[in-house]
Amino acid sequence: MKLSKAWRLGMKDMQQQMLPPHRHRSQIKGPTWIVVLISIICVFLVVAYIKPPETSSACYIFSASGCETFASWLPNSVRVLSDEEIASDVVISSILNSPPMVSKNPKIAFMFLTVGSLPFEKLWAKFFQGHEGRFSIYIHASRDKPVHTSRHFFNREIRSGKVDWGKISMVDAEKRLLANALKDLDNQHFVLLSDSCVPLHDFDYVYNYLMYTNLSFIDSFSDPGPHGSGRYSEHMLPEVDKKFFRKGAQWFTMKRQHAVIVMADTLYYAKFRDYCRPGMEGSRNCYADEHYLPTFFHIHDPNGIANWSVTHVDWSERKWHPKSYEKKDISEQLIKNITSISESIHVTSEDNPETMINPCLWNGMNRPCYLFARKFLPETLDAMIDLFENYTTKT
Ligand SMILES: *[C@@H]1O[C@H](CO)[C@@H](O)[C@H](O)[C@H]1NC(C)=O
Ligand SMILES: *[C@@H]1O[C@H](CO)[C@@H](O)[C@H](O)[C@H]1NC(C)=O
Ligand SMILES: *[C@@H]1O[C@H](CO)[C@@H](O)[C@H](O)[C@H]1NC(C)=O
Ligand SMILES: *[C@@H]1O[C@H](CO)[C@@H](O)[C@H](O)[C@H]1NC(C)=O
Repeated sequence: MKLSKAWRLGMKDMQQQMLPPHRHRSQIKGPTWIVVLISIICVFLVVAYIKPPETSSACYIFSASGCETFASWLPNSVRVLSDEEIASDVVISSILNSPPMVSKNPKIAFMFLTVGSLPFEKLWAKFFQGHEGRFSIYIHASRDKPVHTSRHFFNREIRSGKVDWGKISMVDAEKRLLANALKDLDNQHFVLLSDSCVPLHDFDYVYNYLMYTNLSFIDSFSDPGPHGSGRYSEHMLPEVDKKFFRKGAQWFTMKRQHAVIVMADTLYYAKFRDYCRPGMEGSRNCYADEHYLPTFFHIHDPNGIANWSVTHVDWSERKWHPKSYEKKDISEQLIKNITSISESIHVTSEDNPETMINPCLWNGMNRPCYLFARKFLPETLDAMIDLFENYTTKT
């Protein structure tokens, strides 16, 4: 798939490079058959360009892998992959193509990226109660040692590091959580959550939603505006072309194979570490946690990700930060409203924003999009605990 796409993209450049030589050479006075032969080759190239390789009858002249072989004859038509890219490609595709690991006791890893204590620990404890053995908890507390109120969270901190908002250290913390969670072979799906996240459904609903699908819920969309592709730097070439640059919220869930390929990647990671930073080249800001994984998965497994995040956030006020829910906002209706949403919405950052609406498809069926929500202020804890039984018994 990817090769043939690269080939077609390469061919577009080819056409521009090849046509002028065609005109030159036909003026050369030489044996007619050379002119004829070159003309035939050129016509063939143009035909092959106009008709994409998948449908081109020209390709069938060659064997099954003919199109690729054919492309490799053409000088400079296809970008030559570096050793690192070839190595990275084979590792990633081998992991994706191996059968998923089977566990007798599949668990979901809940990974909390916090500053210190988790304000909603009591609510989460209610969520986990009675489901022991089907989940594992990991906490990355970037600043203060957490104080726990629940046995489920006791001793679940991993060694943490400093996290700076919008910097690569955020991605490093995510990778640290994934690495620790991957050590338990029973963990089959990995969920990243923040301080301000709350559960919207009961444990069984969340478990079934994540476990019985082959998708990872990674937000990824194309934003041609200043807060999307405007953050792209050509230093990311050749591995990351601008047209593959994507954006998305950092709050992901991913299946085990995807977590492993994130561990395996150093090539793309380094590009984002070095060239997607706040205050790049003067005033341009790029935030690795919003672009690295959405772009990486768009390049390597676009059909393996849902393209939306199962963590809801309300951007409808269109401010710099999303809406923070206060105590007075909490009601059964609010939760009902969020859990009834079954379309994902992406808005670009251009002057005339484009709104993209897609149904949330789970194994091909339209389902509610969200399992978790943020940003809930700590003052909402008691109201959320009071509501929890109500909204979870009705789903
Ligand atoms: C997920 O993939 C496995 C094998 O790769 C397959 O057996 C299973 O049916 C798939 N599940 C869904 C829900 O598509
Ligand atoms: C996610 O988006 C990509 C690119 O637009 C698309 O190719 C892919 O099919 C989408 N994934 C799903 C599961 O629809
Ligand atoms: C829920 O949604 C309805 C319909 O969109 C809206 O009128 C109402 O204000 C919402 N309520 C809350 C609490 O968000
Ligand atoms: C929960 O639901 C019951 C019955 O519908 C209702 O009486 C109660 O007030 C609800 N609790 C809260 C906290 O809204």
